[in-house]
Amino acid sequence: MKFQKICVLGLGYIGLPTASTFAAHGIKVLGVDTNPHVIETLQNGSIHIHEPGLRTVVESALDSGNLTVSPRPEEADVFLIAVPTPFYEDSHGEYDGRKYRLADMRAVTSATEAILPCLRKGNLVVLESTSPPRTTVDLVKPILERSGLKAGIDFHLCYSPERVLPGQILRELIENARVVGGITPESAKAGHDLYATFVKGEIIETDATTAEMVKLMENTTRDVNIAIANEFSRLAEKFGVDVWEAISLANRHPRINILSPGPGVGGHCISVDPWFFVETAPELTPLIYQARQVNDGQPHFVVEKVKQVLGSLKDKKIAALGLAYKPDVDDLRESPATQVVHLLQKEGATVKVWEPFKLDANIQDIDMATSLDSAIQDADLILFLVKHTEFTTIKPEEISSKTRARVIIDCVNGLNTIQWENNGFTVYRLGVNNLKIANQQSQI
Ligand SMILES: NC(=O)c1ccc[n+]([C@@H]2O[C@H](COP(=O)([O-])OP(=O)(O)OC[C@H]3O[C@@H](n4cnc5c(N)ncnc54)[C@H](O)[C@@H]3O)[C@@H](O)[C@H]2O)c1
Repeated sequence: MKFQKICVLGLGYIGLPTASTFAAHGIKVLGVDTNPHVIETLQNGSIHIHEPGLRTVVESALDSGNLTVSPRPEEADVFLIAVPTPFYEDSHGEYDGRKYRLADMRAVTSATEAILPCLRKGNLVVLESTSPPRTTVDLVKPILERSGLKAGIDFHLCYSPERVLPGQILRELIENARVVGGITPESAKAGHDLYATFVKGEIIETDATTAEMVKLMENTTRDVNIAIANEFSRLAEKFGVDVWEAISLANRHPRINILSPGPGVGGHCISVDPWFFVETAPELTPLIYQARQVNDGQPHFVVEKVKQVLGSLKDKKIAALGLAYKPDVDDLRESPATQVVHLLQKEGATVKVWEPFKLDANIQDIDMATSLDSAIQDADLILFLVKHTEFTTIKPEEISSKTRARVIIDCVNGLNTIQWENNGFTVYRLGVNNLKIANQQSQI
């Protein structure tokens, strides 16, 4: 199959790198987004998201004329859908007393409907958005067939999950193995040929529902594994053990690989995707559900720790370092750090947040500092929430005179405790009950 023109719907963290990578490989790409700000920014030759190397690739794709943008799709050889698939904020399903989240598939539905007038015989449509099992066959296919064309006969239809790591998207897009699931083997082959334009990793053909499940299984496995690490952090505090030491010793076993605990699980993927299994099969997913509960409960555990250290939080001032859902990215979606901040405020604390990756963040009820110094100046306590490299390299000797705080809680094991303590700070770490450990050591 020849691909002269591709229409990419959704120009976010996934769609924009994908569109510009196709354009860099000589294909004409029309990038479509319903957000006028996105279209305007790109038309002005700029980008609206932070991803290393992306600005250069997008600029040269726009300059070459291979990438153009528009609010509406046009006829093309391929339509690639990379729109958001979050869960609904305000509605839940319920099974056996367990409340679960519901996938919001409105963007996939409307993007698919937008393709309808442009769909022609011989086209290929690929869904990349992470979706509940059977979305390609039960949601996308019937919409496209309203055109009068038959999927698998008149046009090809695939699901291909995106598995890139934010911060490394451009490299992983090319190097990662790619799973392409077709609704027919011919569709899978067409999808294979499309990605072969730039993918250097293996491209594996399968059916669409398997490909959907592969993506959900990957992220669900991560979520469950993080949940056990978080539960270990609670157990370690109860038993006066340093969870970080215990994990590193357990991981010396050749078949054990325990992940790191932290303030919770966020982002657009790992904290969302397991719900797609729970929603579609609540009777089969008690473990997945429970892991979600543990990880969603972790911000409360952090707040309890702050209360153990400070007592009542009423009128206490806290400097929170980091708001992103993981280190060295600007993505705040579903961030557990945001939840920690809101919970601290509910307890009466005043919280100033320093997030160097998102200086323009405008989040309801959150007071963003304009610099590290202004965040920590009047603080009673510094709460280290995200392991940004910039934070792990803060020199305590340089900031100790700039803050009132003498206590720091490290939720991500990112600080050199001895160095901070040598500069007059008391450091508490998540998963470590300092008092209990001190008592135990004195009894040995
Ligand atoms: N970000 C990641 O690291 C990642 C990794 C793997 C999979 N995914 C999945 O990829 C999909 C896209 O994620 P993202 O991070 O790129 O989202 P995003 O929010 O960064 O970007 C999505 C874009 O789609 C646009 N959009 C919404 N509805 C649209 C429509 N009907 N037509 C055209 N554009 C529309 C939005 O304006 C936005 O610019 C999601 O399903 C996500 O779960 C994301």
